[in-house]
Amino acid sequence: MINQVRIFDTTMRDGEQSPGASMTLEEKLELAKLLEDMKVDIIEAGFPIASQGDFEAVRAISQIIKDSTICGLSRAGAKDIERCAEAVKPAVRPRIHTFISTSPLHMKHKLNMEPEQVLEKIHDSVTLARNLVGDVEWSAEDATRTERDFLRRAVEIAIKAGATTINVPDTVGYSFPDEYGAIFKDLIENVPGADEVIFSAHCHNDLGLAVANSLSAVLNGARQIECAINGLGERAGNAALEEIVMALRVRENALPFKTNIETTRLTQASKMVSRITGFPVQFNKAIVGKNAFAHESGIHQDGMLKNAETYEIMRPETVGQGATNLVMGKHSGRHAFKDKLSALGYELADNAFLDAFQKFKDLADRKKFVYDDDIVALVDDAASHISENIKVARLRVVAGTDGPQTAELDLIINGENKWTTQRGNGPVDAVFNAIQALVPHDAVLDLYQVHAVTEGTDAQAEVSVRLADGDYMSSGRAADADTLVASAKAYVSALNRLLGKQLRHENGEKKAS
Ligand code: KIV
Ligand code: ZN
Repeated sequence: MINQVRIFDTTMRDGEQSPGASMTLEEKLELAKLLEDMKVDIIEAGFPIASQGDFEAVRAISQIIKDSTICGLSRAGAKDIERCAEAVKPAVRPRIHTFISTSPLHMKHKLNMEPEQVLEKIHDSVTLARNLVGDVEWSAEDATRTERDFLRRAVEIAIKAGATTINVPDTVGYSFPDEYGAIFKDLIENVPGADEVIFSAHCHNDLGLAVANSLSAVLNGARQIECAINGLGERAGNAALEEIVMALRVRENALPFKTNIETTRLTQASKMVSRITGFPVQFNKAIVGKNAFAHESGIHQDGMLKNAETYEIMRPETVGQGATNLVMGKHSGRHAFKDKLSALGYELADNAFLDAFQKFKDLADRKKFVYDDDIVALVDDAASHISENIKVARLRVVAGTDGPQTAELDLIINGENKWTTQRGNGPVDAVFNAIQALVPHDAVLDLYQVHAVTEGTDAQAEVSVRLADGDYMSSGRAADADTLVASAKAYVSALNRLLGKQLRHENGEKKAS
């Protein structure tokens, strides 16, 4: 359809390339199901040659997802393409996405290839991919710094070799919207066969222009946008899916294009990605930030009470924010809790539901009012620690003006209970020293961040921790009414991920460049 824009989600590929944002197989499957429910057209599930873990994730996602196209990324070599084809083979709608650099800078310094050799490689790679699957996307890496004549020739070769989608990435986030749009216009008007393929935008946010550039591409003929939940991606990230989708929806008068996306799931997706990666969403983040619909000033609040349209260009419910404000407490029963979960977009299986209900009851005993954000934090927290090998069993901390601050910690490590008591320069340091004593590791603390889930002194604390060990980085997040317990859980969660990554690497997984 001419006015339809396809949404291509790359949270699990480009998004996962953000330092510290790795996801486990279970997490990728969980996210893939939500993306399918949201009606994402294409899910880029990974880079199969990059590691055994990536290969398995793309394959497993290809097996379970029926409605969305499943895409794997591949460089231009035959081995990469064949591995990618194998990974997406079980998919109902498989796609190979192959790329090569076309800018003078990349061809010379990265590929060490002459332009004519690159053109030959485009022909060979797309031909091979097209012999393996019917749906092939080709990308000109660093397209926005590529000479226009050369880009036209490259695109023409890719189309002739059988590419069905042509992606024009702003790999380094350098373009301005008018420049980026002009590239699409030029290619679509001048390359033979351009009318038989879909043109795609893929923008990085180094200058904060990824969404604007993507929309400009649409105005100039692109009909696919590559984006990621919460704008995750290399360096400053990719265009944020939720911003693209809502811009197209709210400004249909200026951009008469539709997407298939079920917008009421956007907030849930944002929270899920934040929980999985351990990357907090900034409060003022457009569409999904905690403050995106908050009105603080008296004048605004007055206007809102008279007519919400005075200061709101979309209703929060449209994006799945604040669907209900019913406050829960210790007298709320299972039925009310189930209704609340479902209003917040969660359908939990029986055991997970009972577990969440018990945690809700425990929280309600400690906190007078349990708000939506408390429940989201509680359910997400339970889900993120389920499959961890190291778990926090018990923590007791001595803090205050008269040191020494000490932490008495019990961990369950691969099913075995271990405990220690350690001192520290403050209670958090004591807790982290206790973890170090029970699980010796070389990683250093790269980030430690605490924020309150709701208002009030009895609010749950949400803690984010990032650990770094040489090339490895991992994040963990946890919520608890006790800040120190949340800190211990977040640290342990990041450590679980880091050790898992290092183990997978030792077991022979290699990283693709
Ligand atoms: O930014 C980029 O150029 C990419 C390509 C691999 C599509 O991510
Ligand atoms: Zn990219």
